[in-house]
Amino acid sequence: MTMYKNILTEKKEGLVIITINRPDQLNALNKETIAELHDELSRADEDRSVGVIILTGSGEKSFVAGADIKEFADFSIAQGGELAMNGQKTLFTFIEELSTPVIAAVNGFALGGGLELAMAAHIRVASGNARMGLPEVSLGVIPGYGGTQRLTQLVGKGKANEMVFTAGMINAEEALQWGLVNYVVEQGDLINKAEEIAGKILKNSPMAISAAIRAINANFKDGVNGFDVEIEEFGKCFGTDEFKEGTTAFLEKRKANFRS
Ligand code: COA
Repeated sequence: MTMYKNILTEKKEGLVIITINRPDQLNALNKETIAELHDELSRADEDRSVGVIILTGSGEKSFVAGADIKEFADFSIAQGGELAMNGQKTLFTFIEELSTPVIAAVNGFALGGGLELAMAAHIRVASGNARMGLPEVSLGVIPGYGGTQRLTQLVGKGKANEMVFTAGMINAEEALQWGLVNYVVEQGDLINKAEEIAGKILKNSPMAISAAIRAINANFKDGVNGFDVEIEEFGKCFGTDEFKEGTTAFLEKRKANFRS
């Protein structure tokens, strides 16, 4: 197993838990952490024994407190643009487009790049102490890892405008009401909750789930007709062994076995 400096990986039955591990910096995302996450996420996505990836932060205080401000404080216009472009490509859009579902277990502060990371995941669960916000305008910059787009998609333009313009934080209950997270649980139950959702996902066809990710994402892509993508992905399912197994199992009144 590869040793990383800033992340920890735990493999369990059918899933991988990746923990961002810079607690003294509240798990802020520096360049090296982003590269390590890219590496480990690619590895997990290619591993056929992995059906769900859970992403969390170490400690009980912070999921990720943003991009590492210390690293970009003296950047030029060109470097700023590159930072956002590379980050989106290697981590944020990358996660959204993985063929394996990613669940963010938000265990505390999810600010700036931290909330953007959680929003790039397919599903979010938060602990009761979680605080979420996009405080970039307080630093004289805007969210650059997809925050202006994904927050608007998840909570609507009015609430996204308010969160971005005020640079304010919302608590876990508000995030639940806003639809920004799917569940709020006690800190000690957070990973269990994520694993419970993972367990339900793991019963289903990985091929069909990947196709569903592509079809759902198509709704948010400029110039792409999501209904057409759905038709294409739906049709392709019919040529797969997993479709045969799923339908045969139903007709034989047994549980489908997609992962043997
Ligand atoms: N980038 C770099 N370092 C960060 C960081 C970030 N985004 N967020 C926290 N840290 C570091 C702090 O600099 C401090 O390091 P130090 O001990 O070397 O000085 C350490 O993490 C602990 O943070 P601290 O601010 O002392 O904790 P706190 O409990 O007083 O406050 C926060 C917690 C989250 C409110 C505060 O850290 C914060 O506002 N962070 C920045 C959030 C942000 O603007 N993110 C968007 C970035 S684009």
